[in-house]
Amino acid sequence: MKTLIKNGTLVTASDTFLADILIEDEKISRIGLNLEVAPDYQVDATGKLILPGGVDPHVHLDLPMFDTVSSDDHYTGHKAAAFGGTTTAMDFVVLENDGFSHSVDLWMKKAEKSAIDYSFHMNLTRFDETIAKEIPSLMEMGIQTLKVFTAYNGRLRLDDGSIFKALQIARDNGMLVMAHCENGDVIETLTAQTLAEGRTSPIWHALTRPAWGAVESSLRMAAMAEQADAPVYIVHMNAGGEVDMLQYARERGVKVMGETCPQYLFFTLDHLGQPDGAKWICSPPMRTEIDNARLWEGLSQGILQTIGTDHCPFYYDGSRPIVYEGGEIAIPGKELGRDDFTKIPNGLPGIQDRMPILWTYGVNAGYITPNQFVAYTSTNPAKIFGLYPRKGALIPGADADIVIWDPERRIKYGTAYSHQRTDYNLYEGWELSGYPEKVFLRGKLIVDGDAWKGKRGDGKFLKRGVGEVL
Ligand code: URP
Ligand code: ZN
Ligand code: ZN
Repeated sequence: MKTLIKNGTLVTASDTFLADILIEDEKISRIGLNLEVAPDYQVDATGKLILPGGVDPHVHLDLPMFDTVSSDDHYTGHKAAAFGGTTTAMDFVVLENDGFSHSVDLWMKKAEKSAIDYSFHMNLTRFDETIAKEIPSLMEMGIQTLKVFTAYNGRLRLDDGSIFKALQIARDNGMLVMAHCENGDVIETLTAQTLAEGRTSPIWHALTRPAWGAVESSLRMAAMAEQADAPVYIVHMNAGGEVDMLQYARERGVKVMGETCPQYLFFTLDHLGQPDGAKWICSPPMRTEIDNARLWEGLSQGILQTIGTDHCPFYYDGSRPIVYEGGEIAIPGKELGRDDFTKIPNGLPGIQDRMPILWTYGVNAGYITPNQFVAYTSTNPAKIFGLYPRKGALIPGADADIVIWDPERRIKYGTAYSHQRTDYNLYEGWELSGYPEKVFLRGKLIVDGDAWKGKRGDGKFLKRGVGEVL
């Protein structure tokens, strides 16, 4: 099967140029001006941009939490991702009692319904001699990343000594530690005091998880990485001070990289203070406009490396069904914590929103260039997580994961456009200018305008190798 995309403007992480792209079966085979071929299918992309499919390095699909589960599974979440221009997603395997292999098998089973390509990170939420010895086996499974937590005491958190040892093991095996940085002890103390005072509304979720905890924990993580001579990737950076710490460490040669997410660029504590504040509950929480501004600066100046979503959706009111693909479905959600913020499932939808929202409110608004947009949403995550140049690249030999982006399409965004399986959208009513028109996954057209052409099981598991330190 030959597909020719004619006269588009290719946007990569470094260049913007006019060219045709020829796709043969699953791969890009040629890029050049005025390609002379007789294709099976041709698209005229005059006036359109051609981007490499988005790579979302941070999602939580079908994740059990607080007596419920994140409301997108590996089919619905992937379908939503595709509508937003993302063709690869990486989610996190929960570490079960009986070790890595069994835990990965369980996640593989969940992911059989995948509609875009995917890979896994392993949550390293226990650490002992047995686990330490087993870590290198993850590389053989194509899982090159371990996520550690400095918060969620008694559940997910590792002590610093264990994190340090994990960094050393990662270093010796070409692996990468990803770190969730908050101060677990401060959070536990403030939460207990706050509940004892009878304060239960959503804003207290944010007020019990202070930004300084994220700031000191990010620097602590960078310091441990430097002492272990290992790279580290700090997920969901949310506080301006974290960008300061990232810059400080990177200027001193520490191999530390940072990810932020759209929610930390656009929202603040004030959103949690609204009557529907539970919609904005995620961990770490929203901060202030000063933090939003410093995160944008971190992107425009290249201090940060990626923009993921941390997509982990829950219904706002899971007692009321929504219609999804013609059937009604209700999944318990934020209402579980109506009387107690600690019982509100943590997480937000965003897998579809990421690229369209960042295009209008990041690129069009002048914070980042189109090339930076591609770097942060596709090429850099592909490089860091060992998928480049198969993913994140518009070059011959790369997978033909391609987005034809219409920079002129104007829509009023929200649940009417979103395929995320939840009952709300954080960007409801936001005016967008620029939106994906067609999305190809390994040469197959899976989104055509507003029509879904993909299907369950079309996504492939991607075994990842050693990544780059950016
Ligand atoms: O609130 C969030 N982000 N839930 C997902 C878990 C995590 O720490 O990323
Ligand atoms: Zn996290
Ligand atoms: Zn997460």
